[in-house]
Amino acid sequence: MAAPQFAAERLLLFGATGDLSRRKLLPSLCALDADGLLPEKLKIIGTARSDLDDADFRDMARAALEEFLPAERRGGMAGFLNRLSYQTLDASTPDGFDDLAAKIDAAGGTDGGLAIFLSTAPSLFGPTIAGLEKAGLTGDKVRMCLEKPLGTDLASSAEINDAVADAFPESRIFRIDHYLGKETVQNLLALRFANILFEPIWNSNVIEHVQITVAETVGLEGRVGFYDDAGALRDMVQNHMLQLLALVAMEPPTSFDATAVRDEKVKVLRALRQVTANETVTGQYRAGASNGQAVPGYDEELAQHGLDESETETFAAIKAHVDNWRWKGVPFYLRTGKRMPQRVTEILVQFRRVPHSIFEGMGAGLHPNHLLIEIQPEENITLSLMAKVPGLDEDGVRLREVPLAITMPDAFAEAQRRIAYERLLLDLIKGDQTLFVRRDEVEAQWNWIDGIRAGWELHEVKPQTYTAGSWGPSGAVALTERDGVSWHE
Ligand code: BG6
Repeated sequence: MAAPQFAAERLLLFGATGDLSRRKLLPSLCALDADGLLPEKLKIIGTARSDLDDADFRDMARAALEEFLPAERRGGMAGFLNRLSYQTLDASTPDGFDDLAAKIDAAGGTDGGLAIFLSTAPSLFGPTIAGLEKAGLTGDKVRMCLEKPLGTDLASSAEINDAVADAFPESRIFRIDHYLGKETVQNLLALRFANILFEPIWNSNVIEHVQITVAETVGLEGRVGFYDDAGALRDMVQNHMLQLLALVAMEPPTSFDATAVRDEKVKVLRALRQVTANETVTGQYRAGASNGQAVPGYDEELAQHGLDESETETFAAIKAHVDNWRWKGVPFYLRTGKRMPQRVTEILVQFRRVPHSIFEGMGAGLHPNHLLIEIQPEENITLSLMAKVPGLDEDGVRLREVPLAITMPDAFAEAQRRIAYERLLLDLIKGDQTLFVRRDEVEAQWNWIDGIRAGWELHEVKPQTYTAGSWGPSGAVALTERDGVSWHE
């Protein structure tokens, strides 16, 4: 059932003083406001454990906006800050929820619709929902938005989903995967389904393999405890990379709406073949260099925080298969890591060789075509084509690969570049679930990830070390090279 489409007039932010709120949520909301995109009546109530009043919260928000939102996107700020109020709350006990409800009443109540954004430790999800229920804050006009991590495996994720489902139907639950808010990720759908060119060749007859890379230059960024419990597989592959894979591999949905799009994605996620231990490689970085600066190894960072060495992977490469008619025999190589040489998110679709080359024996140098979809930091789409090198061809025809390239920012120079959360927060406020992840998707994702982790345990797979600033352990190269494939770099 589709979510009721009305614009919520109240937004309640749990974790309002936290990192995500300061870096992304408040800046995104302010930028939307500056562009006149927030409902006129929208009031934003922040809540967290910190003992602040409305004025303190507004001061904190102002400082966050000044730090994380470029001046030209802030608008006057005063109007935005006026929308904010704050209620101190310890969400681990039910005691303060009546005061929270009173605060929301003071801001106009829930009749005009309330969107709740939960950006807190998952251990607080259960008590928060119980508190909201007790305070009458789960009615028909209330939507619940959940930020990751939603569990650490299928069982814990199901537990969270059950707790939320006790108070909210799926049509009012919005699970964030912020990659879905990125413009170029959405553009994948336009590329595939708004052009007639690609769909007829988007299958194993013409596509040889697909590579998805999400490389980061950053290391732990102060999230030691969280990251060491999670690792790259749970932090990046389970969510962002599998969503990218699903968008590349899914069948055309019948329409661009939440049910149709998510129905198709979940079919792909369920068709993922269980990978064997030798189809994965994991790594952990050691001291090296990042952006020209010496950086410590993961083990040293743990030690700096008083933690012992661990076997948490900061890099993972996987050879995946989607077991359906369209993708029979087409490997999807996934790779993600911290402390890589560059920050890059990209999808490479490698096409097969022409079945018969009329240029054979001429030394013409014929390369199979590929389509490169760069998501960040650049937003480019490049199709490699073979072209004849100009000349009289006395020594035979010479061919060279030439790019047919679109630089998205140039093609849409007039368009505002937006933070992924701007789109997601606006969709939450309006009640559009298309870019949010449905329960069956999350669970299919975890199911596949759990299988990989079980294989690692069984075969005692340990991360190989790699130098910070390199493309990961040598095993990752071997993973593709044994299929005659090189990672795109
Ligand atoms: C988050 C992960 O979900 O995504 C982080 O928890 C990671 O570890 C981040 O750094 C990457 O997001 P982006 O938008 O910078 O690619």
